Amino acid sequence: MKSARASLWPIVALLSVCIGALAQDPAPTEGTPTPSSTVRPTLPVSKTWPLASAPTFPDQPRDSIDSPSFPDPEYVKLLDYTLAFYEAQRSGKLPADQRVTWRRDSAMDDGKDVGLDLSGGYYDAGDYLKFIFPLTFSLSETCWGGLEFFEGYQLANETLYLDRMVRWGMDWLIKAHPNNNTLYVQVGLSEVDNNYWGPDTSIPLPRPSFQVNNTHPGTDVMADAAAAFASCAMLYRDKLNDATYASTLQSHADALFRLAETAMPQQVYQTVVPAASCCYASSGFVDELAWGAAWMYKLTKDPSYATRASRYIDQLNAPSVQLNPITWDDKTGLVYILMAGATAGTADNHAKWQGLSEQFADMTRHAPKPCSFTKGGLYYCNGNSGDDSAVVAANAAFALHLLANQMANSEGSGSGSGSGSTQEKIDDYRSFALGQINYLLGDNPLKTPYIVGVHPNSPINPHSAPASGGDSADTIDTFPEKETYTIYGALVALDYNAPFNGLMAYQVMSSAVSPPYVVIPAGRPDLPPILNGMEVWQIILIVIGSIFVAIAIGAVICYRKRHQIRAWAASRKQNKYERTTAAAGYGNAMKPVRAGAGHGTGGEPTNRNNNQDHVVNNLAVPPPPPLRNQQNRPVPPPPLPPREEPMLLQDAHRA
Ligand SMILES: *[C@@H]1O[C@H](CO)[C@@H](O)[C@H](O)[C@H]1NC(C)=O
Ligand SMILES: *[C@@H]1O[C@H](CO)[C@@H](O)[C@H](O)[C@H]1NC(C)=O
Ligand SMILES: *[C@@H]1O[C@H](CO)[C@@H](O)[C@H](O)[C@H]1NC(C)=O
Repeated sequence: MKSARASLWPIVALLSVCIGALAQDPAPTEGTPTPSSTVRPTLPVSKTWPLASAPTFPDQPRDSIDSPSFPDPEYVKLLDYTLAFYEAQRSGKLPADQRVTWRRDSAMDDGKDVGLDLSGGYYDAGDYLKFIFPLTFSLSETCWGGLEFFEGYQLANETLYLDRMVRWGMDWLIKAHPNNNTLYVQVGLSEVDNNYWGPDTSIPLPRPSFQVNNTHPGTDVMADAAAAFASCAMLYRDKLNDATYASTLQSHADALFRLAETAMPQQVYQTVVPAASCCYASSGFVDELAWGAAWMYKLTKDPSYATRASRYIDQLNAPSVQLNPITWDDKTGLVYILMAGATAGTADNHAKWQGLSEQFADMTRHAPKPCSFTKGGLYYCNGNSGDDSAVVAANAAFALHLLANQMANSEGSGSGSGSGSTQEKIDDYRSFALGQINYLLGDNPLKTPYIVGVHPNSPINPHSAPASGGDSADTIDTFPEKETYTIYGALVALDYNAPFNGLMAYQVMSSAVSPPYVVIPAGRPDLPPILNGMEVWQIILIVIGSIFVAIAIGAVICYRKRHQIRAWAASRKQNKYERTTAAAGYGNAMKPVRAGAGHGTGGEPTNRNNNQDHVVNNLAVPPPPPLRNQQNRPVPPPPLPPREEPMLLQDAHRA
């Protein structure tokens, strides 16, 4: 028995190595060195907003990516576009200066079902639903990027649009927080809205409004909304010079954070609002409590918030430190970095936060499982990147840029832990971030900038019902062939573009070169065939490996059952002999004896060994039966793991 097992191990090991090799992505390409940012003239920037016109990409790409001027006009354009994307997402009554003119007033009656005006705000993605959870995170990221990279917004003459983008969201959040005990978290129903694919003029009803409150808390959304109010209060107070608005926002932040901490039981919000489970179910509320406390601390400098942030993070990190990728659902990594910056020069345990931040950044930089780098160098985390590849990479880049900036701005703030000087770490984080930005802007195997409207290779059919010009969910992928409107600047969800806002502001202020796409000619290159994420040689390897394993298992089974097989062969002979003799009139025909058939009642084999059977069966686990639906018909197997080089923003509509 032992030897049978042992003889299989090399084969099993070989197969594991093959499978492991498939899961293992090659190391990332080294990021371009951080461009020097010595020249900082505050030049006036002339920019043209294309409105409904064609992309402004020149027919002949430039042959160099050295920027013709500073700031680079393409980065200025990208910052302008990514903010304009939010105008395309506006809900409610549109203002006279709306630049995205193909949008119209819509969903004006939101909130009437609860006697409130909840019109306005932003549609979440390519549909017409309003969700607070991704919105508040998007606003926090945007306001943080505004605070940290404000110079980029100034250089690009985009501070006005930053203000408008944030204010449009905040004005609605104020409506959604009508009193200190109540927060509206969703308007619309996915099962109604997602059956509709058409213009903003006939959005289907009903559009119910859902709330959490002091008796039915949603601890995560409350704390996350507090973080949005606090971060944006700080932006208005310190950068956009609107103290009145800042203090309004701060009082909402106060009330919401208190509600999150005191309303019991503390719980995830979909417990109270199951309708949100479709789309933005929260996996826990402690990271949001830490995130809210961290922003309250940064805004107020009240050390009690630092203590609370620390306590929540310790709770989250018990028994070991969590270094998950940053998403709308997980802000832990950002809490470390936010607190490291906010505690610099205070007595509020800066060393702890700086240490955690660098640990997080070093992990991100080296992408251990479940993360890795694709062949083209994209930071990719299984479990998160499948649907949202661009934003996982953009959030990571945003976080590392923030940390590098903080470390560069405050001398000697590095923890001194681990290998490498502070300056080396700063350079390393920046080179990671720039590598991700460049990937998203065209430096990838498909030579595709994943931003709509900046290049002929940009996605032309992003998932957006209003932009599509389509009118039926049945023809979502086919009609019209090319979307009617170009949704400039889109990565196509509020939270996808949010880190991109800050990143483009950073590029405006720091980049001496143009984005990679300026030298990419129109047309995507042909890539070697990719079959469900695997290349042909990998599939061949798997097939050969499987045949080898099947033969080996067969051989082992035969060897283990050699006595039974012999007995079976012998019994066949015997049967033949008996049939012959019966036919010849020597007694009754006997029931055939099936030797070695195992659990049957007829004919026990003489030398059957249960123990052996058991071992062999364990090694040769049969494949599970095909899945069956209710009509008991086989259904297709579940999809294979994500492909190696994901399409970040599919040209086909996603249903
Ligand atoms: C900056 O933007 C504002 C508003 O779009 C515009 O009126 C102004 O001319 C711009 N200034 C420069 C220097 O481009
Ligand atoms: C509190 O929220 C729950 C769940 O949304 C709702 O059923 C309840 O009516 C709300 N309470 C008040 C006083 O509005
Ligand atoms: C609501 O919260 C704010 C901020 O904490 C506070 O100033 C105000 O007094 C509260 N309002 C009520 C009615 O409790």
